[in-house]
Amino acid sequence: METYHQIESMRARVRAWQVEGEVVGFVPTMGNLHEGHLRLVRHARRISDRVVASVFVNPTQFGPSEDFDGYPRTLEADSEQLRAEGTDALFAPPVSEVYPRGLDHVVTIHVPGLSDILCGAHRPGHFTGVATVVCKLFNMIAPDRAVFGRKDFQQYQIIRRMVADLNVPVEVIGSETARAPDGLALSSRNAYLEPAERQIAPALYRELHCIASSLKAGERDFLQLEAQGWEHLRRVGMQPDYVSIRRRDTLEEPVPDLPASQFVVLGAARLGRARLIDNIEVADL
Ligand code: PAJ
Repeated sequence: METYHQIESMRARVRAWQVEGEVVGFVPTMGNLHEGHLRLVRHARRISDRVVASVFVNPTQFGPSEDFDGYPRTLEADSEQLRAEGTDALFAPPVSEVYPRGLDHVVTIHVPGLSDILCGAHRPGHFTGVATVVCKLFNMIAPDRAVFGRKDFQQYQIIRRMVADLNVPVEVIGSETARAPDGLALSSRNAYLEPAERQIAPALYRELHCIASSLKAGERDFLQLEAQGWEHLRRVGMQPDYVSIRRRDTLEEPVPDLPASQFVVLGAARLGRARLIDNIEVADL
């Protein structure tokens, strides 16, 4: 595996592969890799000839009171894991390479509507930072395909919309959520959970799953289902930010006469120092 810290050399490598007719798949990450990330790399390998992964903790997607400084940086271990998965190239640029003119007055990409609801309502500016850095990474690397986790479902839909609206020639692919055996979605931030909190954490998955099953069975009292889920999370000791049933493709409020397969159930809750997010697509049940 080759490691690149600079845009020019990374781009030249990718272009050389493409000139040879090879399809390049890309997996953007913030590092501190776990099995969920590695599944994305395997997914990218199955659908492309070459795989590029990036490790970049993007400052513009963290709020002022969020964990940018404390976010775990484990580049050496990440690099080993990526190499073991057969990744062809790792792109790990410094902040100064990605934002050479500093972090203020950067040109940004705002995906209206989608960015302002759910997690966006609780993390102002977060998805603008995400859409901006992903657009920049796509321009730097110019891959043919990019693989994102459906665990971050809102992020996945925002990237899809950004690419469609800006005519970015990258095919965006969503890969299924990797979970611990008890259902908890794998996340770098799970490391913030104390042992007792780790026992409680799968309740988020269970509640969302329960709501999704009710929808599949024909239940359509959305407000009641959301309120119940919220209350159950509070009872086990979480502070929910939202429990929400939405249309899968647009994340708009649902209407009762839609088939159940069109719904996604999303939730976010704080537990100790961690903020957990998860979702269940009813079509997957
Ligand atoms: P990060 O949180 O490191 O996640 C990188 C990719 O891994 C994202 O596509 C995310 O959805 C996926 N992922 C994380 N946990 C997963 C799990 N349990 N199952 C499946 N996929 C999982 O998301 C980001 O970084 C950043 O916002 C980024 C897109 C890199 C832009 O900075």
